Amino acid sequence: MEVIPLREGFGAELRGVTLSDVAASDTAYAAVRAAFEEHSVLVFRGQEVTDDIQLAFSRRFGPPETTKVGSMGTGSHFVILSTFGPDGKVVPSDHRQQLRAKANQLWHTDSSFKRVPALTSILSARIIPEHGGETEFVSMRLAFERLDKDTAKRLENSFAWHSYAHSRSKVAAGLATTEEVDALPPVCWRMVWRNPVNGRGALYLASHAYGVEGMDADTGKALIEQLTDAATAPGVSYLHQWKQGDVVMWDNRATMHRGRPWPAHEGRLMIRTTISATDADGVASVSPPTSQAAE
Ligand code: OGA
Ligand code: MN
Repeated sequence: MEVIPLREGFGAELRGVTLSDVAASDTAYAAVRAAFEEHSVLVFRGQEVTDDIQLAFSRRFGPPETTKVGSMGTGSHFVILSTFGPDGKVVPSDHRQQLRAKANQLWHTDSSFKRVPALTSILSARIIPEHGGETEFVSMRLAFERLDKDTAKRLENSFAWHSYAHSRSKVAAGLATTEEVDALPPVCWRMVWRNPVNGRGALYLASHAYGVEGMDADTGKALIEQLTDAATAPGVSYLHQWKQGDVVMWDNRATMHRGRPWPAHEGRLMIRTTISATDADGVASVSPPTSQAAE
């Protein structure tokens, strides 16, 4: 297996390894897992992907999430990101499926709004638009390491509140349904997630984050915005331009990502598997506070 870095400090393309190799071989898995811990974003090109192969690969990293209510693929281990309707035609630009794609275009990490956060997401391109539709990544380790020492220290002992309803409300009122809101009450996480393998800390933020524990609503929101802007400043990202056969996996503990727009009349279909974080992945070791920040 060859590891080709994509950016200074994060991201790597892996060559000479397939998803099936990782599913079948402990040695291949160990090599990919080590690259994952180090580089945070891994790109595999020219893969033969089926749902079964993707899931078998994904399961190596931990327990797969079951897709939540309200998402396409609910109840399965697959999240279906699609702008195609049941008739095979692309849905109109104001359709819920298109609005959901817009919500993915806000900088975020997956599942920070769930009671169990995610270790990694694995995304495969099935139908790619001709223009746009890239996925962009930033390293939240590098973002953390760029902060001044006092801020970094303070954040290490700070907690942020995350909610799905919050990120969806930024795109369209009512985009999160009552069913989703009821299933996904706000959760609170440490603002720094330390990797248990290499000890490096990463800022843990997302479009879902709306408040900081112990701060008034406006101050907390302003802090989250300021940290997000600094983490995603021009020039620090890796932009993945999708080709047929591409699979990208990322470390939700140590990166943020966002989808990029594409012309609404061009269809796009991507399939994601998501692996839950476990204690071994360094999930917040201190109990979060029990109050709930006002939105
Ligand atoms: C995701 C996601 C963005 C995209 O799959 O979690 O945010 O470009 N995707 O589809
Ligand atoms: Mn996402």
